[in-house]
Amino acid sequence: MTARTAYIPINDLTETDAQEELASLSKDIAYHDFLYFNKAAPEIPDYDYDQLVKRNKEIEQAFPHLKRVDSPSMRVGATPSPEFQKVRHSVPMLSLDNAFSFADVVNFVNRANRFLNMPEDTEIPFVAEPKIDGLSASLIYQNGQLILGTTRGDGVEGENITANLRTVRGIPLRLQGTNIPENLEIRGEVYLAKSDFQKVNLEREKNNQQPFSNPRNAAAGSLRQLDPKVTASRPLKFFAYALNALSGLYLKTQEDILKQLEEFGFSVNPHHQFCKAKKDLQLYFKRMNDKRNKLDYDIDGLVYKINDLNLQKRLGSVGKAPRHSIAHKFMAEQCETVVEDIQIQIGRTGVLTPVAHLKPVNVGGVMVARATLHNEQEIIRKDIRIDDHVIVQRAGDVIPQVVKVLPHKRLENSFVYVFPTQCPSCKSSIVQKANQVAKKCPNGFKCKAQAIQRLSHFISRDAFDIDGLGTRNIEKFYEAHLVTSPVDLFTLQKRDAKSLKPLRIQEGWGVQSVTNLFDAIRARRTISFDRFIYALGIPQIGLLTARVLATFYTTPENLLFDAKNLVDKQTQSYQKLLNQDGFGHSILEEIADFFNDDVNQDLFQQLASLLTITHYEAPQSNGKLKGKIIVFTGSLKNMSRAEAKDIAERLGAKVGSAISKNTDLVVMGAESGSKLRAAQTLGIQVVDEAAWLTIIKE
Ligand code: IVH
Repeated sequence: MTARTAYIPINDLTETDAQEELASLSKDIAYHDFLYFNKAAPEIPDYDYDQLVKRNKEIEQAFPHLKRVDSPSMRVGATPSPEFQKVRHSVPMLSLDNAFSFADVVNFVNRANRFLNMPEDTEIPFVAEPKIDGLSASLIYQNGQLILGTTRGDGVEGENITANLRTVRGIPLRLQGTNIPENLEIRGEVYLAKSDFQKVNLEREKNNQQPFSNPRNAAAGSLRQLDPKVTASRPLKFFAYALNALSGLYLKTQEDILKQLEEFGFSVNPHHQFCKAKKDLQLYFKRMNDKRNKLDYDIDGLVYKINDLNLQKRLGSVGKAPRHSIAHKFMAEQCETVVEDIQIQIGRTGVLTPVAHLKPVNVGGVMVARATLHNEQEIIRKDIRIDDHVIVQRAGDVIPQVVKVLPHKRLENSFVYVFPTQCPSCKSSIVQKANQVAKKCPNGFKCKAQAIQRLSHFISRDAFDIDGLGTRNIEKFYEAHLVTSPVDLFTLQKRDAKSLKPLRIQEGWGVQSVTNLFDAIRARRTISFDRFIYALGIPQIGLLTARVLATFYTTPENLLFDAKNLVDKQTQSYQKLLNQDGFGHSILEEIADFFNDDVNQDLFQQLASLLTITHYEAPQSNGKLKGKIIVFTGSLKNMSRAEAKDIAERLGAKVGSAISKNTDLVVMGAESGSKLRAAQTLGIQVVDEAAWLTIIKE
């Protein structure tokens, strides 16, 4: 393909001519971009390329209505937006579980073997790829044209950053090739090369701007720019590694995916490798670990993906991570520094966490000034003292840690660190439970440090999600005794109306912002039960476990009445909850403790009477086993019990452990024994493994 030499003068172009030429220009420029940015093998001189771009621009200026969505000029054109729109991913963007040693990898493979009911030593083929330390992005193509680009966000919902992603030259605005499905999602990593990072920082220093601390932060800052022109000025790059297509492509393996991505015009990391067996993964790890520093981009580990997509599908995911892939992290980077102080942080639940304040040190490209010391036991075990020289390490996103003290560098007059016996915030005496390492301040909302964290949690996104009220305001409101408990939020407006110095005349506020705040609070007077439970900030209760409680108890009255009794392990509720995902003895103990506390009970009752708490509706699967209760008995030949349960749940069923009159279906494997007789007595439908396989066949 070569550049044209003679063009029809713009004024002589008919509308049809212009349309056709724009189409062919966009195709040609996309092709040359691909060769230049993704293959580093241009076919035409830069001058000719610039002529193509110029011609494209001229035609667009003369025929603005004919500008195409995949026009090369779209890479820089967009105007800044006031904010990013939220977009729900059609398929959640999962994250990966980490392996920190080869033994972890072997465990991971064995788990997959067991899930697939394969003998333990069966070798499953993998594709191993570098884990690029950038930001993941999702790109949606319709009929081969890029129409949407988003960040990962929380995995369920990302942000629309299409205008910014369009400026990344390695991301094709239109796909190459012929066999292009109507709808396609491509995922991959946006990153900044180390060499480009140096250049960007030099430029920033020249302009008296704070340099970025590492390439990843620079890439993140560049991608989340409200002004796409700023993004365009940073030489971001993209490696594609995943593809979702509803139909139209016949890909059987991850290797097929990578090949297809290249054919579409993406850069695929050249260091990926097919690994037939576990020992090949180990060799690959060694090789890449040595090569790591020679690459012009940061990698923080390797990703091992089961090559067979059918096996990947069977394995599915657990929580937020797939069972078919794992990230094998490189050894953490370590450095020496000095502990300048040890300070105590008080968490939402009152737990005291010691934090080492360090002489700032650059660990693998990131400045580290603090490291968690976890708890008193950890300080004693490592004998960490103020003024000690220590080794600190940082592994990926993990909070920096103190690995060990260098005793030969210890000062003569150093003394053992004494853990406080009083809360540094409210001075109440610290308590510690018999079987726990954590020391706690028992003062709840009366402790300022704790109250502010609990209030911040209460208004956070997955809880009451109150717009316009951040931690800073919470702190100010607490200090002014305006809001000292969540209940106060809902009486704030009334009290403010009577106040001599209402909020709207206070610094930082105005009529509009105060109206917005009260509107936001009012809007949350109705809240679903799961969010309400989560907002209470019961230790160890996250949104998922809050949902289990909301489903189990259905109303606030039931919860308040029953949760107190969870101190008794023999109660039916205790035993039933224990069987739920995410529940164990320690979490049940926390729930019981929380609801046996007078202040918490009082808070719960007051909130329940002020608010409208609606039922939590668990999202219903529309699968063909929707609402059915299934019990598996005996062993199945074709799949493990775990896979059978997973499939049943994906199809909308619940899996029971014992047969009862509520059971809808019993799946009988070999040696079913007594359960089979029980099912027959109750008149429940019983099927064998072959029938089960037919039921679940798509
Ligand atoms: S596969 C289920 N492959 O690592 C997640 N991820 O910890 C599928 N990443 O969010 C991701 N390089 O941002 C995959 N070759 C690679 C990757 C890669 C970097 C990132 C990605 C993901 C994170 C998971």
